[in-house]
Amino acid sequence: MRVAIAADHGGFDQKQQLVDFLAKDMGVDVIDMGPDTPESVDYPDYAVKVARAVSDGTADRGVLICGTGIGMALAADKVAGVRASSITSPAFAELFRQHNNGNVVCLSGRFVDLAVNEEIVRTFLATDFEGGRHERRVAKVEALDHR
Ligand code: RB5
Repeated sequence: MRVAIAADHGGFDQKQQLVDFLAKDMGVDVIDMGPDTPESVDYPDYAVKVARAVSDGTADRGVLICGTGIGMALAADKVAGVRASSITSPAFAELFRQHNNGNVVCLSGRFVDLAVNEEIVRTFLATDFEGGRHERRVAKVEALDHR
C-alpha cells in the first residue's frame, strides 16, 4: 500500500513521527509530500498535494495533519474522488472506513496525542469498507463530485 502524507506547521512534528511509524511499524510505502521544515505554511497547499495523489492513484490512502485536522479535511474533500474527514478517535477511524470508504484521514497535531493518532492511522489502514447498503450512499456522495 502507498500512503501519501503531509502537514502544516500545526502538524509538522507529528508528521515526522508518523512517517517513521508508517514505514517501520505499518510497513507501507510512504510518500512524504512535505513540508520539510516547521515554518508556517498554508494547509490548503499541502491538503491538495495529498488529495490529488489519492485522486489520481499515485497513493492508495492519504494522511494529513494540521492543528485541528479540520482545515485539511475541508480542503482535501474538494478534490474529486477524495473522501476526507477530521478523525480524533480510533472508533471513528473504523466507521470512516466501514461506512464512508474514507480515503484521506485528517489528524489533529495539537489536540490529539501521537499515540492516539498512531492508533487512528493503524485502524484507518487495516479496516475494510463494508459495502452493502453503504455502497449506495457513498455513490451518492461521489455523484456530488460530478454535479
Ligand atoms: C494553523 O494555525 C491552523 O489554523 C491549522 O493548523 C489548522 O488547525 C486549520 O484547520
